[in-house]
Parts: sequence; structure tokens; C-alpha cells
Amino acid sequence: MFQDFKLVGDRPVAIQVKEYVKRLIIKGALQADQRLPSTREMSGLLKVSRNTVIAAYEGLEDDGFTYAIPGKGSYVTAMVGHLAADNGGADGSIVWQIDWEARMNEYAVSAVELDRMKQGIRANKGTISFTSIAPDEQLFDLGDVKRAFMDRMAIEGQVLLNYGYAKGYKPLIDYLMRYMENKGVDLSGKDMLITSGFTEGFDIMLSALRPSARRGAAICENPTHHTAIKNLKLHGFEITGIPMESDGIDVEQLEAVLQKQTNGFDLAYLTPSYHNPTGIVMSPAKRSAVMKLMMRYQIPVIEDGFNEELRYSGAHVAPLIATAGQGNGVIYIGSFSKVLFPGLRVGWVLGDMALIDNLESIKRARTIHTSTIDQSILYQYLLNGNFDKYVKKARMEYKRKYELTKACCEAHLPLAHLSGDGGLHLFLTFPSGVDTRQLLEACTEQGVIFTPGDKFFIQEGTGTNTLRLGFSRVTDANIERGIQIIGKQVRRFLKA
Ligand SMILES: Cc1ncc(COP(=O)(O)O)c(C=O)c1O
Repeated sequence: MFQDFKLVGDRPVAIQVKEYVKRLIIKGALQADQRLPSTREMSGLLKVSRNTVIAAYEGLEDDGFTYAIPGKGSYVTAMVGHLAADNGGADGSIVWQIDWEARMNEYAVSAVELDRMKQGIRANKGTISFTSIAPDEQLFDLGDVKRAFMDRMAIEGQVLLNYGYAKGYKPLIDYLMRYMENKGVDLSGKDMLITSGFTEGFDIMLSALRPSARRGAAICENPTHHTAIKNLKLHGFEITGIPMESDGIDVEQLEAVLQKQTNGFDLAYLTPSYHNPTGIVMSPAKRSAVMKLMMRYQIPVIEDGFNEELRYSGAHVAPLIATAGQGNGVIYIGSFSKVLFPGLRVGWVLGDMALIDNLESIKRARTIHTSTIDQSILYQYLLNGNFDKYVKKARMEYKRKYELTKACCEAHLPLAHLSGDGGLHLFLTFPSGVDTRQLLEACTEQGVIFTPGDKFFIQEGTGTNTLRLGFSRVTDANIERGIQIIGKQVRRFLKA
């Protein structure tokens, strides 16, 4: 015994010895009331210092795995809860083997089916990948983030490490309320819930609005954010997609659908600025027309403001919630996942006070609250005045990449119709003969990958001639090379 002990990595040696002996006890290699080798013997057996063994033995005793008899040594405690044989496992007579696949309910099965991340192509080393629309981590100002963390910990570290409030970290809520007020939102009658990113905020909203007695009915832009489509489907919503035009959702079609649907819609999900995947910004005229329609039909609008800060040109456009004034029909879900750091899972839901009060209870039931540490780092980072400085730098860099990507597409993919006025991606529509899934296969062989656009469309089998190019994490040289390669493959397709 004790010959298989191996030190690994840079973990404290005493902890490694303690855990090694624990494993022997749990596996039954060391039996109840058996005496452990003396600390001197064990130090020789494991080739570690005697002080290390003394510390490990103290730890074993503290954790209840051994007991000491003064003057005699350390003995193994009779363990509770490791009696595999008594439960029929160890002797092989009965095996407790559940078929977990068979146990999965409809929700779990659908979640797996709709999990594009699992089914997506993995980038091999050296592949030029246009699939991501995450921020470029090289831009992150680590020094400022570290300072924000240290500053906040110095002020109230003990409070932050304890449980917080379901609604969120109050200083952050106050900050974000002012931030939204500066976008022109009338805050009267409104309140805010902090969530773990847009995605959780959306999920909580859908949980609250999903009708109990029938399938829900949702309306949204088509194409749209595939995670939103997935969550709508998971919550049992029937989705009606309205086509996009170059200045946003097709308002005539929207009106026609609203007129036809006699039972009405439970909600609309809209991304009016730098929409995913098309990158389109809804024009002010359309914003006003959409709001009038939604008001006429009394449909709650969930506004996704995820990309609003990544504007590269043109005038600031107010979010839909700002145009609603004191009306309570718009629920705005914000996130800094694209403009700042998606690893801090912080988003916010701004809407009618009574609604937020209900959402708060759902949030509490699910996760108690979003990590207060995450919220407080974000708060202090904003309070320290880093946001404007960082956004200026990030915008400049992304704008440069956006223009480069656009220029490369115009040069190498002249047949593709481009859309995207900002954000971290461009959307391409090819003549109908180009199937972008087949194109992807051909490009993958040449070391380039992108996101085929059909995954953003509501109806399967549509949008098969579209693709999304995320450029934020691709180097300039690779943007040029990658788009050149895609261009070559498109020409091959069109010739065939
Ligand atoms: C349309 C849209 N909304 C929101 C988000 C951000 O989600 P989260 O805040 O959960 O990271 C994304 C990220 O890709 C997105 O594409």
C-alpha cells in the first residue's frame, strides 16, 4: 500500500496527502479502526516531509476520517455512508443503473435537440472562424477590472460574499436606472430586475407570460437570435416570424398578421438596434409605426437592447421603451455582453413595476439572485468611469474591423447582399442557388468556418442562402484571407 501516491501540479502537498488517504479509506483499502502508519513511517513511504504528514493527519481528523489515541497514533473512523455492499452494489447482485436518456422529459429532449452549440462545427487549430460574435478579449482592460474588484471588496467585501437580493445589487440597479433614463426612458411606474445576462431575463419573462392552458403565441423578426427562438420553443410558444427589410421589420406584413390573428399574440420579441443576425437598425419611422400597432393590439413587446452601444455611424436612435413614454407595454432587456464582458453574467429587465415584482419572485425561486460579486464588479467598473473610455476604444477597433470585413465582402463576394450597420457581425444573402450549408462544408475543408444563416430563421429550410460573419475575434489578415477563400468557393458553386 501507499506505493501509488503521486504528487501532482502545484497544490499544497499536505492536502494531496490528506486526500490520498481519504480515498484509501473511502475505497475500503483502509478499514475502520485500522491504525495509520506513524507520521515518521508515512513520511518515508510517501517521500514527503514529516511536517507535511502531521498537517495531513490533522486535516483527516478535522474532517472526521480518523481519530487520534494519545500516545498511540491515528486510527480510521467507522464511516457512515460508504456502505456500497449493503446497498447491493459492491457484490454485483443488483446494479443501480438508471437509463437517464429514457427518463428525460419533453423539455430536456427539446433542449438537446435545439442545442446548436452541441451540434455546431468545432474549429480546428488554425481554422479561420467567423462563427463567434463574442467580444475580442484582447481589448479587455484587465487593470481597470481588477481595480474595480479590489475597490469594491475593500468597501464591502464581507457583505458581497453573503447572500444578496433577488432583485439585484441596489447600487447597480440605481446606476442602470439612470443609464436608461439617459437613453430617454420615462422611469415613472417602472422598476428593474438584475438577471444573469439577457438570456436569463428572457427566460424569466417567457416563464411569466407563457399561458398555462394553451400554447403561447409570439411574434418576432424573421430571421432572429437563435437562442431566443430556442427559448420560445422550449416554453411552448408558436412563433410567427415577420420578414426583415433594409430598415427593419416589414410593417405591412406585421399589420396583416396582427389583423388576421383573431386570438392575439402573447408577446412580441424585437431587436430594433443592430439586430442579430441581420445587423439592421430599425428606422425611426418604423419604430413609431411598430409601437402604434403594438399599442393598438395591446401586445407586450420584449425589446432586446444587447447591441445598442455598438453604433459606428449615424445618429443615436432611442430604444422602443423610450418612445413608449409612461405606457407600460415595453419590457427592455439590456446586457453588456457584447460591449463589455460576457463572462460577468449580468443583464437587466426594465419594465412595469407590477411586472418586475412578479419576475423578482420567479428569479428568487430559480437562482435566489445573480452573483453579487459579478454585479458589484460591474457597478464599480462603471462608477470608476471606465465605461466611456473602454467603449470608445472598443468601438474604434470594431468599426475598423467592420469596415475591413465589409470591404473584403464587396471585393470577394460581389454577388452577396450585405446587411449590418453596426455590432460585431455582417449578414450576407446570396443568390438562391448558393446553399450556405454546402458552402460551409467546402470552406471547412479550406480552413474557414462561418454560421449558416438558416439557423436564425423560424421555418426550417428557409434562409439557406444566407450566412453570418462574426469578425470581432478574427485578425485583419485572417478576415482578408478567410473572405477570399469563401469567395473562391462561392465562385466554384456558381460554376457547378
Ligand atoms: C440578440 C442577442 N441578444 C442578447 C445577447 C446577449 O445575451 P447574454 O446577455 O445572455 O450574454 C446576444 C448574444 O449573442 C444576442 O445575440
